[in-house]
Amino acid sequence: MKKVLKYASFGLLATVGILFAVYLVFSFRTDAGMNKAYIIEPESVPIPVDSAAIARGKHIVDSRGCTDCHGARMEGKVFIDDFAMGKVVATNLTGGQGGVQKVNSDADWVRAIRHGIHRSGRPLLVMPSNEYFYLGDEDLACVIAYLKRLPPIDNPLPANNIGPLARVLYPLGKLDQLLPAEMIDHRTPRPVTPAAAVTPEYGEYLAVSCQGCHYPNMEGGPSAVPGFPPAPSLTRNGNLAGWTEADFIQAMRSGKTVDGKELNNAYMPWQVFGKMNDTELGALWAYLRTLPKSNSPDLSNLSN
Ligand code: HEC
Ligand code: HEC
Repeated sequence: MKKVLKYASFGLLATVGILFAVYLVFSFRTDAGMNKAYIIEPESVPIPVDSAAIARGKHIVDSRGCTDCHGARMEGKVFIDDFAMGKVVATNLTGGQGGVQKVNSDADWVRAIRHGIHRSGRPLLVMPSNEYFYLGDEDLACVIAYLKRLPPIDNPLPANNIGPLARVLYPLGKLDQLLPAEMIDHRTPRPVTPAAAVTPEYGEYLAVSCQGCHYPNMEGGPSAVPGFPPAPSLTRNGNLAGWTEADFIQAMRSGKTVDGKELNNAYMPWQVFGKMNDTELGALWAYLRTLPKSNSPDLSNLSN
């Protein structure tokens, strides 16, 4: 009996040892991803100084989710903090204590927002540049113009610290969001930015903000975040088939749909997207009405 126990405990120790070794390999691969040095000469984007451009920058920052992570005044915050995933800190972007406003050059801002790369060359964690990569030069320039004028807020923050679950999921390819820079083809030619107007083209440009959850074809699907509900289809084939533009705008601004459903802001961030102006929401709707593109090409001219 004693012998059996002895073998059993050897077996257990060996298993724990092997698991630990596997974890170390995974963890090492995660560190390698996080410490990779990128050499990216960002596009030179002239930064405007006029008040209209700065106001437009604030509008983009408020309506595309920047403040959800970086705080209402972009003063930074710890926005993920648990043992399994670790600590992820959205940087204080102001000129106060702990802020980076004064150290970032114009090129550093472009590199960070568009490419997801820190001024040191390391990839930024969780900062969704794979979406912001598609911000046109003019919009990006307005965002930077606004960030450069953020009032200073003293808010020193702790360092990032990636937890054990994230270190296992990332090497398994289950946590691409950890390092968005890896999802970007940094050398791809920049798409032409459509003019801001109620057109499907401008709607498609804005819909990049929806595709992370509603999928690139907007047909919805399971959430990438465990425990979150699936995102519904937004095409003409889905629940929105009978909606009008006014129904859509009401849902986006109030979180209440024409079907009497309350959208949960924790899963569907309508409080952020509801800040989009009439042109933006109208354009999104015009774009949604062209979908699906594959099996109903005749519907596209109904969008105007
Ligand atoms: C999902 C959360 C999230 C959203 C949304 C987000 N960020 Fe970030 N951002 C982060 C995190 C986290 C970091 C710090 C990452 C690191 O240090 O590795 C960061 C870093 C940055 C940096 C680099 C700071 C430095 O060290 O120089 C800039 C600039 C920035 N974000 C701007 C923006 C702007 C502008 C938007 C909106 C267009 C935005 N962020 C939206 C999470 C987010
Ligand atoms: C973080 C994930 C996420 C993002 C980003 C997101 N959505 Fe959603 N959306 C959801 C989820 C989840 C639901 C279902 C919510 C519920 O059932 O409470 C939803 C529901 C909706 C609905 C209601 C659909 C119905 O049938 O009632 C509309 C409309 C909608 N989203 C539009 C958008 C648009 C437009 C964007 C981009 C500007 C967007 N969403 C971005 C996750 C997201």
